[in-house]
Amino acid sequence: MVSLAPWRSSLSHALHRNRKPFARYFQLATIGMDGIPANRTVVFRGFVDGTNQIKIITDSRSQKYDQIRTRSHGEICWYFTDTREQFRIAGKLILVDKDTPTDDDFKLLRDRTWQDLSESARLQFIWPNPGKKRNPNDDFTVDPPNPNQPVDNFCLLILNPLKVDHLQLRGNPQNRYLYECDEFNNWSVVEVNP
Ligand SMILES: Cc1cc2nc3c(=O)[nH]c(=O)nc-3n(C[C@H](O)[C@H](O)[C@H](O)COP(=O)(O)O)c2cc1C
Repeated sequence: MVSLAPWRSSLSHALHRNRKPFARYFQLATIGMDGIPANRTVVFRGFVDGTNQIKIITDSRSQKYDQIRTRSHGEICWYFTDTREQFRIAGKLILVDKDTPTDDDFKLLRDRTWQDLSESARLQFIWPNPGKKRNPNDDFTVDPPNPNQPVDNFCLLILNPLKVDHLQLRGNPQNRYLYECDEFNNWSVVEVNP
């Protein structure tokens, strides 16, 4: 088992103290094909068990999927309103999709993540193509997909953090810590000015 990064306890603490559903939304930035940043809100789906890796789900028909396939760097920006702290978590994104080999552990995790979704969340994956021009004939009243078998365009997205910038607004002065992971998977932390 990988030892948990030192920022994990601060993040778990923030999640515990900000228990509203919207505390599980954060922004995920990726790099567009043109080199321009692209940013959107997504839902935190938990950590990969016993690791620092963050789970997100998405649709392989979305823009971010192609962006990540081309450039895997991404950054999460997560603000917790109750405790007034921000985590910026940068790292590499891994796409776990229908083409991920079946003997890859993440493939099983993709199946389980699909099975754990609500029916309304699963339905969105069989809606007409996201981001395409709306057509009045498009059918959004489709039958629910198989709850056991992910549809082809269901993608599990995993962020493998390499840098974390934790800013706490509470306190005077505020507190800010920069965490960094080296090539041997060891984390270091430096306290910096806010
Ligand atoms: C509160 C909220 C939660 C969202 N959660 C997700 C999510 O978990 N995964 C996802 O792909 N899109 C989610 N979206 C939609 C994205 O913000 C975005 O509109 C969509 O993924 C298309 O982005 P893209 O074209 O950059 O790929 C969410 C939007 C909101 C407002």
